[in-house]
Amino acid sequence: MSLDFTQITSSIPYILQGIGVTLKIVGIAALIGFFLGTLLAICKIGKVKALAWLADIYTSIFRGTPLILQLLLIYYGVPQLFGIQVEAYIAAILAFGLNSGAYISEIIRAGILAVDRGQLEASMALGIPYGKMMKDIILPQAVKNILPALVNEFITLTKESAIVTVIGIMDIMRRSYIVGGNTYRYFESLIFAGFVYYIMVVVLTMLGKLIEKRMSRSD
Ligand code: ARG
Repeated sequence: MSLDFTQITSSIPYILQGIGVTLKIVGIAALIGFFLGTLLAICKIGKVKALAWLADIYTSIFRGTPLILQLLLIYYGVPQLFGIQVEAYIAAILAFGLNSGAYISEIIRAGILAVDRGQLEASMALGIPYGKMMKDIILPQAVKNILPALVNEFITLTKESAIVTVIGIMDIMRRSYIVGGNTYRYFESLIFAGFVYYIMVVVLTMLGKLIEKRMSRSD
């Protein structure tokens, strides 16, 4: 048994280039997921039964099937059905954004329901329109409560992004096992990839804590 990280040192910059790839996919997908999740959560708690029902079905499907299946369906299935080639990046961002939206909608729904009812009643008594009340009063308080759960979701997204490897995207994961193949040093290169993901997650966690601290200043 021999471990020799010097065998992969010249390939480290190559693996590190995958960070940008991973961040781009995760960043845009997280934004899509957040907006979609908010929209779905509002539908779920709203008075229009049909919208609530549709939002529930959406969540059920995207949470009920593997993410990798959704990714492959968008990348390989959509071109077959509609005759348009979906770029790998777009397929990844779409799959992750749509999937995350389902999870985030439940997080936000719980957050909205946890905001004290008095806030809603007070806003209504003041004659604040529904949209403005949601945007300026209820959602900011909800987001504060659900921040740890949201950070959790973004951490999951960051790690799950490794599956984009299967559609040929040159992310951290794919680069590291290419290096493994070229140098016959799979252990070292995969451990290095693990280290990079871990650092990304640690940074995300720290960012979350920082925002949490800032938001609790008003308490
Ligand atoms: N491996 C899980 C699946 O395939 C991950 C789902 C993504 N999770 C998330 N919170 N967005 O279903």
